[in-house]
Amino acid sequence: MTTLAIRDVIVRYGADSDETVTALDRVSLTIEPGSFVVALGASGCGKTTLLNLMAGFLRPTSGVATFDGRPIEGPSSERGVVFQHGALMPWLNVIDNVAFGLRLKGVPRRDRHQRARGILRLVGLEGMEERRIWQLSGGMRQRVGVARALTADPDVLLMDEPLGALDALTREQMQELILDIWARTKKSVFFITHGIDEAVFMASKLLVMSPRPGRVVASIDLAFGRQFTEGAKAGEVKAQPEFIVTRERVKQLVFSSRQLAEGAL
Ligand SMILES: Nc1ncnc2c1ncn2[C@@H]1O[C@H](COP(=O)(O)OP(=O)(O)OP(=O)(O)O)[C@@H](O)[C@H]1O
Ligand SMILES: [Mg+2]
Repeated sequence: MTTLAIRDVIVRYGADSDETVTALDRVSLTIEPGSFVVALGASGCGKTTLLNLMAGFLRPTSGVATFDGRPIEGPSSERGVVFQHGALMPWLNVIDNVAFGLRLKGVPRRDRHQRARGILRLVGLEGMEERRIWQLSGGMRQRVGVARALTADPDVLLMDEPLGALDALTREQMQELILDIWARTKKSVFFITHGIDEAVFMASKLLVMSPRPGRVVASIDLAFGRQFTEGAKAGEVKAQPEFIVTRERVKQLVFSSRQLAEGAL
């Protein structure tokens, strides 16, 4: 099992132009094997930038991102990505979307479809193999995105606001599904959201980020998601006084970091 680490990372966009944006400012964090790390922060605080570093799509301006002790130098199947805007291929059906990475690797059609079927079962999309993407609801599409990222059997799943566009009910069902997959596969997860309730419920480690420049203002160890995966009902977990107190505390942190950033403008 492997650890992903970010050390003293600064990311500055547009370094060659007049309009420089410091998206991340001296960010450090560690994703331990099997943990569920959630980054919570307002729009524009650098969450996707952070995920792009982990995925290997972007290099830091300074500092270092490592996986298993080695610098991250590009994308790899050991780090699977679920994109903020789905990024599915509408001209392919569900199973071919899920098996796409295996096709690129040259895995024969029968083998890749067999593997994709197993993963589709895991995300609750059994029987949907032949459907086209445009025939699916938003929640189903996100499940296809999760399934596609799982097919390569990555050590860590990087999820960029996978539930952001869903209605409240579907969103809660998907939170439970993702926690369930996390518990069953024992993978590490990095999950981005701006939902405070969602962050507190799902995280085993919650990182609260401040807006512009993005910094980690708090790192909090939590166990509500674990209570759910060990059998408690989501509604019961969220109704506990401890959950409510934590949620309010986190809300305060988010608001005070925003006020600080606005004061600095
Ligand atoms: N390629 C780029 N060039 C210049 N600026 C960029 C680029 N990508 C992001 N930015 C800027 O960097 C900051 C952080 O962007 P990022 O996409 O990481 O934020 P985010 O937290 O993911 O936001 P959201 O919640 O809206 O997805 C923003 O101010 C954004 O405008
Ligand atoms: Mg983003």
